[in-house]
Amino acid sequence: MTRPADRPSPDQQLREAAARLDRRRFLTVTSAAAALAFTVNLPSAHAEDAEFGPRAITGDPFTLGVASGDPLPGAVVLWTRLAPRPLEPGAGLPPAGSVRVGWELARDERFRKVVRRGSARAHAEFNYAVHVDVDGLDADRVYWYRFTVGAWSSPVGRTRTAPERGRRLDAVRFGLVSCQAYEDGYFTAYRHLADEDLAAVFHVGDYIYEYGIDAAGGDRKYTDRTLPALFDHETATLEDYRLRYSLYKNDPDLQAAHAAHPWYVTWDDHEVENNYAAGIPEKGQDPAPFIARRAAAYRAYWENMPLRMPQPRGTELTLYRRVHFGQLAQFDILDTRQYRDDQANGDGWQYPTPESEDPRRTLMGAAQERWFAEGLRRSRATWNVVPQQVVFSRRKNTTAERSKLSMDAWDGYPAARERFLAAVDRAGVENLVLLTGDVHVAYALDVKRDFDKPDSRTVGVEFVGTSISSDGDGEEKPSNWQNLMSANPHMKFYDGRRGYTTLTLDRHQVRADYRAVSHITRPGGTVTTAASFVTEAGNPGIRPA
Ligand SMILES: [Fe+2]
Repeated sequence: MTRPADRPSPDQQLREAAARLDRRRFLTVTSAAAALAFTVNLPSAHAEDAEFGPRAITGDPFTLGVASGDPLPGAVVLWTRLAPRPLEPGAGLPPAGSVRVGWELARDERFRKVVRRGSARAHAEFNYAVHVDVDGLDADRVYWYRFTVGAWSSPVGRTRTAPERGRRLDAVRFGLVSCQAYEDGYFTAYRHLADEDLAAVFHVGDYIYEYGIDAAGGDRKYTDRTLPALFDHETATLEDYRLRYSLYKNDPDLQAAHAAHPWYVTWDDHEVENNYAAGIPEKGQDPAPFIARRAAAYRAYWENMPLRMPQPRGTELTLYRRVHFGQLAQFDILDTRQYRDDQANGDGWQYPTPESEDPRRTLMGAAQERWFAEGLRRSRATWNVVPQQVVFSRRKNTTAERSKLSMDAWDGYPAARERFLAAVDRAGVENLVLLTGDVHVAYALDVKRDFDKPDSRTVGVEFVGTSISSDGDGEEKPSNWQNLMSANPHMKFYDGRRGYTTLTLDRHQVRADYRAVSHITRPGGTVTTAASFVTEAGNPGIRPA
């Protein structure tokens, strides 16, 4: 037994810890986190975990596929999670204990040249997730990997390590994806993304959605299967979030995209709840249960993503991090959700007010802001690329002088945006590229030094990638297309279809290819390139490719 019979489940632990707290102590997430911090037991501390044999597993446990992520020069994280019956609570595995999972990594797809192999224990405590950080590999090399349990063998994944930091690279290509509401349609975009030649994929949030999903899988309109009723309510408990990841990861198109490329992931709001801000829930509910819910959501996220970082502690999980690709690029992957001030003016689209313009307001939190500015200062890369969640550039929705703005995006945190741009200036960064998700449409935008002055300097570009599936089939020119394009002269492109974006970086330019999928509410959609743009090194601004 892993867990003595009298030890409460993680959900119970969180609820009990939350209930013991005085409401006023939830005024800041920090105090809540400190008070709630319970030991998330590290697998290494679980040496006493009884190990059961593979014969206790009675069906193929590799129903969720494999994934790799967070590549470094010569290292990469391999991931899988065992789930013989993925859509059932407990996934058909013993409620306690652990089982040994073998892994191997080879230079070839047929595993004739295996360069590393080993084993790791999958623990009930972590929902039988396996994270293996393989290091000592060659830099900038493609590898193949797979897992085994007893006679069961996982699908084969392909991965690639990052190049050495000082190396001169000719060109590197990446994918940009976000927003994959299962109930809004098929993950057809992922099927096509799997066929691209990429060094890695950046996922900038909304990997799951919390809303209930009906028996037909919403707009997927399944006729060949019925989803269990336990998906038909909003996620709240650790079990809810774990099951939601199982449903998503059981999707063959999502599995194909994970098996084809390593991913760097960061989250936005729906991994917990729509438009939450740090410790504040969407609709002003009681913060105590929300903190418990958020901790459960963060934990399920960690269990299901190919992340190198250690397990969440208490209610926090540090997700912002920095990656270098040769001399060519420094990626600063942000978390604009966990540390932000609450949305001003009641959230939504609102006119700016002294509340939204308060200079103290933060989107990244003070520590992440300092880390970001310091990283820019030290950067020697040709390109400074910032994969992050919400739209950075100004978006007015009318041509009137005064216009409503999105209070959830950087427009709702103008002082934080100004500090970001001041840090870019101070560091002398010339080649700033923001990669964004959240809005379920594609944009290409010039980042202006002062969005109130259309002739102010263009200091970088923002490529906003559309959603994989959220908001259904979409259309090339949504009803507000003309409005947004005329109200925002720095907006050079807007397309409302589903898809993904590829980014090709070389020493002279970054090229963005916006890939659009014909439809997603039925399987079999085709992909085309909606538009392509470049920005030149030393001469920032969106230009047709
Ligand atoms: Fe979304």
